[in-house]
Amino acid sequence: MGKGSGYGKVILFGEHFVVYGMPGIVSAIDSTDAEVTKAVKGINIKDERKTAKGYSEKKRLQQIESIERMLKAMEVDPKIGLDIWIGGSLPGFSGLGASAASSVAIAKAIAQELSLQIPDERINQIAYEAEKAYAGNPSGIDNTAATYGGLMWFKKSMASGPDTVEKLHMRKPVEIVIGSTGKVANTKAMVEGVAERKKKNPQKYDPLFKQAESLAVAGRRALEASDLKKLGDLMNENHRLLQEIGISSKELDMLVDLARKQGAFGAKLTGGGGGGCMIALTPGKDLQGKVLSAIKSLGFEVLGTKIGVNPY
Ligand code: PMV
Repeated sequence: MGKGSGYGKVILFGEHFVVYGMPGIVSAIDSTDAEVTKAVKGINIKDERKTAKGYSEKKRLQQIESIERMLKAMEVDPKIGLDIWIGGSLPGFSGLGASAASSVAIAKAIAQELSLQIPDERINQIAYEAEKAYAGNPSGIDNTAATYGGLMWFKKSMASGPDTVEKLHMRKPVEIVIGSTGKVANTKAMVEGVAERKKKNPQKYDPLFKQAESLAVAGRRALEASDLKKLGDLMNENHRLLQEIGISSKELDMLVDLARKQGAFGAKLTGGGGGGCMIALTPGKDLQGKVLSAIKSLGFEVLGTKIGVNPY
């Protein structure tokens, strides 16, 4: 049996804007594990992740396509039979990079089962190919976080060269709360929606993209200085930009407002939007607990974790 794992992630700055070469900041969170065994025939998937209702069913076709893409990128016979188990601590909620985490986990497990020596750099490229099934035109931020973990600065190369990936450091890890709207979102449709609106209305969108770039730069400065008040303000500002490009939702806005009212330093949607998850910056266990309980009391799934954890 081959085994592998990949990290989930929260995007602190720059989702959607990263697709167009703007910088983004991402922190790895929990991980997805995979186990793979050769089978007589077919790709047989047993998905035991905790998920939002309907997640596995809605993602099934994209999941199959992603594995086909992965096998092609790995130059493995597409007719190979594989039993694939997926589990781990990362929930299958939209927005947390669950698809990229599973792609990295499965690619590593296939490599081990077939005795292929594949360095992480290549695993990252394979997962990028697999991500196309879920995101259409992915930036690469999710698979990069899923492969390497940590807190990182990411900038997609818009030419043929490599993406810019730099590890960032905070003085100490900081508590966050993740709230899930429970709605399964289609990242590909969200990315396509932004592309269409951007093309139709460049006068509105171009300045917003410039602002997103400045925000990421300021966010990096605040993170590295551990200026958490500033960091929170900038996250709020990022949420406003995401609202303006049309990817927030009623539930996301409601959870973001709730978290801020409970004292979160900042809150924003995270990932593809249109459902999925939001994050709140809640330094200290007490504040984290307060925001977590408030979201939970309305019947939403929550997760308390930290950003900037080493060795994530
Ligand atoms: O919703 P998720 O976890 O798949 O995150 C998508 C992040 C985007 O920026 C919207 C797309 C991308 O490839 O960067």
